[in-house]
Formats: sequence, C-alpha cells, structure tokens
Amino acid sequence: MDGKVSWTMPVLFELQDACFEYDGIPALRGLSLEIAQGERVALLGANGSGKSTLLRILDALHFASKGSVSFDGQRLTPELFQRDDYALAFRRRVALVFQNPDVQLFNPTVFDEVAFGPLQLQWPKETILSKVAEAMELMGVTHLRDRPPYRLSGGEKKRVALASVLVLDPDVLLLDEPTATLDPRSQSQVVDLIQEWKGSSKTVITATHQLEIVEDIADRVFVLEEGRVAATGIPPEILPNYELLLRANLVHAHRHSHGSVIHSHPHLHSHSKHEH
Ligand SMILES: Nc1ncnc2c1ncn2[C@@H]1O[C@H](COP(=O)(O)OP(=O)(O)O)[C@@H](O)[C@H]1O
Ligand SMILES: [Mg+2]
Repeated sequence: MDGKVSWTMPVLFELQDACFEYDGIPALRGLSLEIAQGERVALLGANGSGKSTLLRILDALHFASKGSVSFDGQRLTPELFQRDDYALAFRRRVALVFQNPDVQLFNPTVFDEVAFGPLQLQWPKETILSKVAEAMELMGVTHLRDRPPYRLSGGEKKRVALASVLVLDPDVLLLDEPTATLDPRSQSQVVDLIQEWKGSSKTVITATHQLEIVEDIADRVFVLEEGRVAATGIPPEILPNYELLLRANLVHAHRHSHGSVIHSHPHLHSHSKHEH
C-alpha cells in the first residue's frame, strides 16, 4: 500500500512530500500520492485531516510550501498560474465543488448560476440553453430555475453548485463532501452519477467521511491522517480494516452495557450496518 498507481493510464496528479500551512498552522505535512487519469478516488479522513486542503491544492487554489505537486507532468506553481493561457486551460479541465456551497454561488438566479461558466466560455446560445437545462434536470433543480441561490436550503445549494460544475463536463472533478448535506434521494442521485463514470476517462476525486458510499464512488481509497496519507488501497482492502478506520477516526468503538457487562464493538456510520 504505497500510494503508487498500478495500472496503465497515465499519472495525472503526483504529490511528493507536499506541505501546506495556514498562517503557520500545518494542514498538509508531507503528503505523497499518485492519481491516474480515469481513476475514481475517495479521500477518507476525520475532520481536520486535510481533505479539503488537499482538494484545494489539486485545484491549484493553494500551492505546496514544500515538496511538489504535478498535474499531467507539469509542476503546479504560482508562477505557472500567472500565465493566463495555462490557468484557463487548467480551469477548463479541472473543477472543484466546494464543501460549503455558499463559497461557490454568487449569481442572482439558479439559471444564471448554472449558465455562468458556459457564458464565460462563450458557447453558442442554443448549446448553453440545452446544456444548462440538462444539468439542472440531472441535479433536480429545474423547479428552482428563477430562485436566488443564496435563499435555498443547504441541500438545494449543493445541488446547484454541482450542476454549475457538471454543465462544463470537466475531465477532472474534485468533489468535497458532495453528499454530506443531501437528503437520501439526492444523495443516491449523486452516488449514481459518480458510479456512471466508472471506467470512463473522467477522473473523480471525492472527499467524504461516509463509509457507506465509498464502494460505489471509488476504485481506490486514500485514508488521510493529520495531513498525510495513512493508507491506500481498493475499497475491499480498506473498508474491513477496523483498526485503521478507528485510528483515522472514521468509526468509533461504541461502548455500551448489557446488564453488568460493558463492552465495545465496531460502529460504522451507516444505517444499513447498524445492528444493535
Ligand atoms: N482557512 C483556514 N485557516 C486556518 N486553518 C485552516 C483553514 N482551513 C483548514 N484549516 C486547518 O487545516 C487543517 C486541515 O483542514 P481541512 O483541510 O479543512 O480538513 P478536512 O477537510 O479533512 O476536515 C485543520 O487543522 C484545519 O483546522
Ligand atoms: Mg473538509
């Protein structure tokens, strides 16, 4: 379990000992990984383990303070992103859906929000209308078309944010807890969508702490702990590893008593797996 890619697709992201700090507070502490084109990857880890920071690094919103981050063989640096041609080409290929949709939504209506990217890219009007309609339908927000995004519920905002990114059909999707605030039906729509990309050329990197969706959304898992990769493997290797998940704070030992006996047992954060 060394984080190396073991198949034939070209490596897309390569991080070597990447570090990042927020005003001196470390968030990534020597993180190394490789992700190949077309892989669907889950980033698992407790709150504060560095998932969102890693996604922002992969989206070149932050740059490593030490170590290196490469995309498609090119080292990502602030200097590189001062070149408008590179920045624009990168932003067309790689897109991030933020954990907090409020960061992402700024247009007066849901339609404007979803149409914003296509308008920037100067797509033909008919294409914009049909692609925006398609993306809104896919995320179940068509009925919210004329509503201001900032007045929607958390789950609705999240679906609008997803639609505004999906409409552009990027090669690389970085999804930060895409299902966290959604109701069960919307959650399974997002999971189905990620599932449909299996075997396609689209690279999908999803941060989550919902273990029950991992098998459906990922071919490979990275477990993060304190800004480093603690383990990587395919879901059937990682998910049954109770010790690892316990250490990474992804499950908790559930202490309770039966009469006079107090004992602990695994407690997965999943409805289907609760058996008390
Ligand atoms: N904007 C920020 N300013 C200061 N510290 C931050 C900021 N964002 C995250 N951190 C810190 O960086 C670490 C990693 O956080 P984050 O990447 O958000 O983890 P996760 O997404 O896994 O919860 C945490 O210790 C967190 O407190
Ligand atoms: Mg986060």
